[in-house]
Amino acid sequence: LGPERAAQVRDLITDVPDFPLPGILFRDITPLLADGPALADVVEAFAGVADGVGSVDVVAGMEARGFLLGAPLATRLGVGFLPLRKAGKLPPPTERVEYELEYGSAAIELRAGTLTPGARVLLVDDVLATGGTAQAAARLVEQCGGVVAGLAFLLELVALGGRDKLRDRTVDTLLRVE
Ligand code: PRP
Repeated sequence: LGPERAAQVRDLITDVPDFPLPGILFRDITPLLADGPALADVVEAFAGVADGVGSVDVVAGMEARGFLLGAPLATRLGVGFLPLRKAGKLPPPTERVEYELEYGSAAIELRAGTLTPGARVLLVDDVLATGGTAQAAARLVEQCGGVVAGLAFLLELVALGGRDKLRDRTVDTLLRVE
């Protein structure tokens, strides 16, 4: 995205204070998804990221909003899409990675046997915040025998330091806010 288009796309992400909990500033991409040209430009920008990380055999997206951006990207690239789901959504057998949240823990899962060992995977999500979800997703891909070609996000919340958890990995973000 060029600077002017990036500013327009940024304006289609609504900042909602105190959702889902007091003190959280929620970044709502619904208006962006509803805007056809903006959605197409975002998918095209992700395709540019894919070009920059070498070959990509499959796109994987983190539930839920990573599905909405990752699946159209996979179609654009002519590759398959793997949903990385929150615990308990997929039937067994699954591969699972657990990770820590600020309070408690969470887990993400991939349906066993859907990732071809050695496949180069581009991970896609809407927001990079603390990086916990992305780090767990990368580990899950590797646990299944995949290679993380890179991680691509629509919006990076820089102040939350998610990149620190992803150092030594290729990370691209289309938009950044403090
Ligand atoms: C949001 C976002 C990322 C994750 C980023 O998902 O879409 O997946 O949080 O946070 P982190 O970098 O601190 O891990 P959310 O948990 O809100 O799930 P949802 O998309 O299913 O609503």
